[in-house]
Amino acid sequence: MREADRDAVDRVREQRLWQRLADMARIGAIPGNGVNRAAFSAEDIAARKLLISWARARGFTVAIDVIGNLFIRRAGTDPHAAPVMTGSHMDSQPRGGRFDGIYGVLAGLEALEAMEEAGIKTRRPVELVAWSNEEGGRFPPCTMGSAVFTTAMPLAELLEVKDDAGIALKDALAQTLAAMPAAEKRELNAPAAAYIEAHIEQGPLLEQEGKTIGVVTGIQGLRWFNVEFFGETAHAGTTPLAARQDALREAIAAIGALHELTRDASDTLRFTIGRLLVRPNSPNSVPSHVMFSVDVRHPDTGTIARMGEAIEPTVRKAATRCSVRVTPTLRDDPCAFDPSVVDCVERAAQALKLAHRRMPSGASHDAMYMARVCPTGMIFVPCERGISHNEAENARPEDLAAGARVLTAALLELAAPVR
Ligand code: GLV
Ligand code: MN
Ligand code: MN
Repeated sequence: MREADRDAVDRVREQRLWQRLADMARIGAIPGNGVNRAAFSAEDIAARKLLISWARARGFTVAIDVIGNLFIRRAGTDPHAAPVMTGSHMDSQPRGGRFDGIYGVLAGLEALEAMEEAGIKTRRPVELVAWSNEEGGRFPPCTMGSAVFTTAMPLAELLEVKDDAGIALKDALAQTLAAMPAAEKRELNAPAAAYIEAHIEQGPLLEQEGKTIGVVTGIQGLRWFNVEFFGETAHAGTTPLAARQDALREAIAAIGALHELTRDASDTLRFTIGRLLVRPNSPNSVPSHVMFSVDVRHPDTGTIARMGEAIEPTVRKAATRCSVRVTPTLRDDPCAFDPSVVDCVERAAQALKLAHRRMPSGASHDAMYMARVCPTGMIFVPCERGISHNEAENARPEDLAAGARVLTAALLELAAPVR
């Protein structure tokens, strides 16, 4: 590593990063040390404003696109060069932790701050992005901001998605955009030279092996569906069973069949039904409408494709009297990161003498969509017992800072420092 790059890396401040994580964790704090910061909520807007205030205090420019992705730029010497990008998300799961997503955003800000303090010049701009609605807990599907930015999902098809309170995405998004009028406008699919995302591992391997850095090689594939059963509501005390169209009874049969379909002795396949809505949801009325979500994941392209295709026929077989609708909401094939960025992250970990290993990601990330448009990689740091999507999510300040140092070194290599 060059002397000047080492100077910038050394200016990453563990205490500043930790303090900012704590400041962000207060926005949407829930009991048990967790965070509930749904996309495009008042809490999301407050987190965005805090991030923008830190960026402006340093003189970085702020831009926003039509889905609300925020771009914070440290200028390069070549005004025409595409930026090297880094980032993650600020929204959380309903019972989320203090690190999922926000760590990658604040590690990126720390990298920009460290470069600024070292007075280092890069030919390319270095740009931090806070992606909108990565979690998809309020407005499915997940990774929406990066999917819209890379034009993999047309925004027009998402605007009518509603949350549980019946609020449409288009209205929550408009409110978010109106809350940050001073930001410049950024076009979708603006060119990027490379993208690196830092994130907690969300699994136990790094901690178990005593490693500080995961050099991420790619992300497993997934399919999401909404499954609906339509029956007829009736009186629970009087309607003979033989005369019922009970949507919940048939949905439960379908859920059992899906668990059978996805049984995997090697425990590689991941299958989750995380959402179940029942209408009218009254103890003495036969359920007329059930909706449940399906999330299925596997690292092998053929297996995830076969599983994706088997979901609808398996559900239909379980329906005897009700009608069924199966709506695919997300389809991501497994992605392999660009070897040049994977090598770059590994070199940075080696240069900083940090114990590291290569590993795939089981969780999805915005890096999956960025990998479609530019050379992409990720950096994982350990989290306690691999717990994530849970208030108890935890990580050590020194590991988080180490990840930010690797990020700074890798971004500098890709952004072409000016000698
Ligand atoms: C992102 O949180 C995912 O669902 O993997
Ligand atoms: Mn995340
Ligand atoms: Mn998450």
